[in-house]
Amino acid sequence: MTHTKQQDWLLYCRPGFEQDCAQEALRQAKQQRPIIGVEQAPIAADTGYVQIALNAQSLSYKDLIFARQLIRLEHSIEALPERDRLTPLLAAIAKLPQTFGALWLEVADTNDGKTVSAFTRRFQPLLETALREQGKLQDGVSEDGTQTESYKLNHLPRLHVFFPDKSSALIGTSDPYNSSSSLMGIHRQNMPAEAPSRSTLKLAEAIEVFMDKGEQSRLLRAGMTAIDLGAAPGGWSWQMVKRGIRVAAVDNGPMKGVLAKHPLVEHLRQDGFKFAPRKAVDWLICDMVEKPAKVADLMAAWFVAGWCKHAIFNLKLPMKQHLSAVDSALGAIRKKLDDDGINYRMSAKQLYHDREEITVFLTKTKG
Ligand SMILES: C[S@@+](CC[C@H](N)C(=O)[O-])C[C@H]1O[C@@H](n2cnc3c(N)ncnc32)[C@H](O)[C@@H]1O
Repeated sequence: MTHTKQQDWLLYCRPGFEQDCAQEALRQAKQQRPIIGVEQAPIAADTGYVQIALNAQSLSYKDLIFARQLIRLEHSIEALPERDRLTPLLAAIAKLPQTFGALWLEVADTNDGKTVSAFTRRFQPLLETALREQGKLQDGVSEDGTQTESYKLNHLPRLHVFFPDKSSALIGTSDPYNSSSSLMGIHRQNMPAEAPSRSTLKLAEAIEVFMDKGEQSRLLRAGMTAIDLGAAPGGWSWQMVKRGIRVAAVDNGPMKGVLAKHPLVEHLRQDGFKFAPRKAVDWLICDMVEKPAKVADLMAAWFVAGWCKHAIFNLKLPMKQHLSAVDSALGAIRKKLDDDGINYRMSAKQLYHDREEITVFLTKTKG
């Protein structure tokens, strides 16, 4: 048996989900080649990141549910001198063969991380200028400081310098076609003043993460129809009506704010698990707090019945065994749709605005 070279990876995730994130990456690596005799270092809890050595030379970002970002780790520096962090960083970066399209200085999404971010903001222009002078960074700013056609450089790898604390750094690279396009892997959303709940941010983020701009304008058009199961107080429905989509909002609880009397909203006080639409709709959205297996069965049943073409829904995670709960819920959906001969695309992510839950996008595709 031959051992392949180990590759170190750096993954960002929601604090508390490091084990799930590592387990998923390890599983993906094992699918490529069974791992023989590789000892894994223990994964630290609540850090918001995972550092893992795998004998996989590539991983697929879009298939990792718990990873916010996927970085190929190249160097780690343990003791950065407080007086001059720049010199050792530049020396390590100089060893990398690539030219980069962007420099991202990042910290963990934790309270400790926040204390380091003031430093990274100050440090960013220093490192950027030095790297531009060395020709390592070509991020669309020309020598006279004006913006060039930066889109041409988007295909270049990104350089990440992650600071677990102010005295150590992890240096790595990401492929713009196989990673998150947001700093720290976080698609921040602004809270719309009119939306009745912060939950609205989850659906706004899901739309950004799962659909490219073309798909967003094709699949979310004025005049379309949607059912929102577990709609109250109305944050998800608001995302639909703001795009001119008519919504039947199913919930025994009250719709609030502008959603309480919106011309595009019909509020139905019914049980979302028993509800059947009068006619098929374009969209099913669902944020009911229920066991993931039960929600998965319901989503599959809607697609098998032909009641909707696209769905975005949340699966609330149990206290333990997150990954196996997710596997069995998504597996059950795949089985039902496959048995029924339905062609579909399904993507799942733990979004930044998700808590103990993941979000799933399911859409019918042409055969
Ligand atoms: C997390 S909240 C939904 C928040 C909503 N997505 C928003 O953006 O404002 C969950 C909702 O699901 C509703 N719910 C739970 N079980 C339900 C059921 N069986 N039928 C209908 N609604 C249900 C609850 O009443 C609650 O309003």
